[in-house]
Amino acid sequence: MGNGTSLFVIVVTIANIAGCLWLIWWTSRRNPHDASGSNTTGHVWDGDLSEYNNPMPRWWLGLFLLTILFGFLYLALYPGLGSFAGVNGWSQISQYEEEVRQADARTNALYAPLANLSVTELADHPQAMAAARNLFANNCSTCHGSDARGARGFPNLTDDDWLWGGTPETIEQTIQNGRIGVMPALGAALGNDGTEQVIAYVLSLSGRNAPADWIEQGKQRFATVCAACHGPDGKGNPLLGAPNLTDNVWLYGSTPASLRETVTLGRNNAMPAHLPLLGETKVRLLAAYVYRLSRDEGHDEREDDDKQERGHERE
Ligand code: HEC
Ligand code: HEC
Repeated sequence: MGNGTSLFVIVVTIANIAGCLWLIWWTSRRNPHDASGSNTTGHVWDGDLSEYNNPMPRWWLGLFLLTILFGFLYLALYPGLGSFAGVNGWSQISQYEEEVRQADARTNALYAPLANLSVTELADHPQAMAAARNLFANNCSTCHGSDARGARGFPNLTDDDWLWGGTPETIEQTIQNGRIGVMPALGAALGNDGTEQVIAYVLSLSGRNAPADWIEQGKQRFATVCAACHGPDGKGNPLLGAPNLTDNVWLYGSTPASLRETVTLGRNNAMPAHLPLLGETKVRLLAAYVYRLSRDEGHDEREDDDKQERGHERE
């Protein structure tokens, strides 16, 4: 608020309250009795209905004066008079910060007994996992899904297939510091034919059909252009977050069209850092939660894979 506006607000506010005071004083001073000694207003309706002009009752005046006093006190203590902040320094923001501080103190007390446990210890701790489930719902499910099974571009955290590694330490690092997965755009470098060849080879890596001569040529291109990141055998590199291309688990889907999009345009994907947001203990709880999910469901997943393979055989 500019100084001028502030001054204007102050003058108008004070003038209003002073006006109220003056009105009370003025009405209570007026002598209700006119010259004739009657205490009516002099208006008459319907022949004989007249209106008394009595002073306001004292209790009512008292209440009125109290509200005015309240107004002055309020304006002295709290922000309200222009840009005057009030003598006790209250503000919405300071109140909010104080409440956050108290809530943090309470939750920190709750989490304190868990602070010294390792990821694997936490994963076997029922109360810790119950707390972690809530943390996951609040902080991670928007991207990874409430069941942690991910979506296109957001990895499934329940399988035992990892971009960045699935040891307790790497999971914890992923959540603490975030990860940035960068697949360069290689369409220009490969040309149309080169792209189709390399896609044929990638399809063949996960056991799918493609023309044999394309696969052969694609294999050579893969060795020179892709192997640096995805490894000579296409099994990926967790140091770069380069996915394993042989396991038929796809971040962006398995269709040739989506592979073409990845190879020609590249991909940029980011897992945000959560240490600044959640602190060490909560991050470790979440690492334990993710670690446990991948252990629990790893077995189911493998059974699913078996089923899928059987399905492919039938095809
Ligand atoms: C804004 C979206 C977003 C949020 C929120 C988010 N993630 Fe992620 N996360 C991602 C993306 C995208 C990736 C994949 C990064 C890549 O492609 O390299 C990822 C990757 C991961 C990985 C690595 C998976 C692997 O295969 O190596 C883990 C573990 C993970 N997230 C856990 C979490 C946890 C726990 C939370 C909650 C604290 C969380 N994420 C919150 C988007 C998010
Ligand atoms: C500089 C390292 C690098 C090079 C070179 C590279 N990639 Fe990648 N690639 C990555 C990374 C990192 C990702 C994961 C991107 C993400 O996290 O979103 C990726 C993702 C992919 C995916 C998506 C996999 C999925 O699960 O959906 C395919 C397919 C792929 N790359 C194929 C190739 C091919 C084919 C080449 C060579 C023509 C190649 N990449 C070259 C680093 C690389």
